[in-house]
Amino acid sequence: MLMPSEFDTSLERIPISSIPAVNVATVPQRSPLRYPGGKTWLIPHVRAWLSGINPKPEVLVEPFAGGAVVSLTAVMEGLTERCVMSEIDPDVAAFWKAALWHSDELIGRVLAFVPTRESVAELDCRVSGTVVERGFRTLVLNRTRRGGILANGASLARVGEAGKGVRSRWYPDTISRRLKAISEYADRIEFRETDGLGILQEKTCASDSRTVVFVDPPYTAAGKGAGKRLYNHKQLDHRELFARLAQTETDFLMTYDQSPEIIDQIRRHCFQVKRVNMKNTHHDQIWELLITRRPVF
Ligand SMILES: C[S@@+](CC[C@H](N)C(=O)[O-])C[C@H]1O[C@@H](n2cnc3c(N)ncnc32)[C@H](O)[C@@H]1O
Repeated sequence: MLMPSEFDTSLERIPISSIPAVNVATVPQRSPLRYPGGKTWLIPHVRAWLSGINPKPEVLVEPFAGGAVVSLTAVMEGLTERCVMSEIDPDVAAFWKAALWHSDELIGRVLAFVPTRESVAELDCRVSGTVVERGFRTLVLNRTRRGGILANGASLARVGEAGKGVRSRWYPDTISRRLKAISEYADRIEFRETDGLGILQEKTCASDSRTVVFVDPPYTAAGKGAGKRLYNHKQLDHRELFARLAQTETDFLMTYDQSPEIIDQIRRHCFQVKRVNMKNTHHDQIWELLITRRPVF
């Protein structure tokens, strides 16, 4: 049961960010995954946040990587020297391991694959295999399922762009180009298949002022958030996440959907918050919260 908060948890009292959410077509698309809950629309905020930190941050830590748009952008645009990203979902983790450590083999598979309902269904059944096989399977399912949803039970795209069904988001040349670009930065991208709370603890305990954190957890704090049907891994102790950030001095940017539970945590830890209006995958206008330690936006 929702306990009444001692703080004002109304959304209307939260100021609006001075930077708008952007149309994702206006920023470089760097991730080969079309990730549900992806943060491409947040890139102008990320640039403003990172470029305002002095001295320039050395390492960006992204504990809930998903499509890892923010880590990739930070490293490829020289906003940080390196990044460390973690992901707990073994399928998503296999994709990142394949992309970073076996790029040529993964690209070869992308260029050779012809997605049909049959070839995708056959791949879907083959969960085990090498890291490349598993990572490739993740990439194919992500780009052929409706909304890119990898959670168990998600269905294939039916009609898609120009009535092309499962092929409507399979662009082998574009995907290969993105994979090649990632491989060129692989020595600056550390990937760990592990719990985001653990990596947060490990990377922030030394209170190194040149480490910063971008946190985009599954939005499940209110028990009914969108994150519940989008990801296989959605259990998270949201209070613990807030408490860990509060215990460190590390500069961070964290996003959340708006719910009284989250606004309560923001107030409790005296974090800064702005809201930004963005369009979700269903083209609904929704508010997202941008939470920081110091005033940024
Ligand atoms: C909102 S998505 C991240 C999206 C990402 N920011 C992007 O732009 O694509 C959250 C991700 O956290 C992962 N996740 C959930 N619980 C986790 C945990 N305890 N540790 C690490 N990753 C976790 C989910 O599998 C999902 O990929």
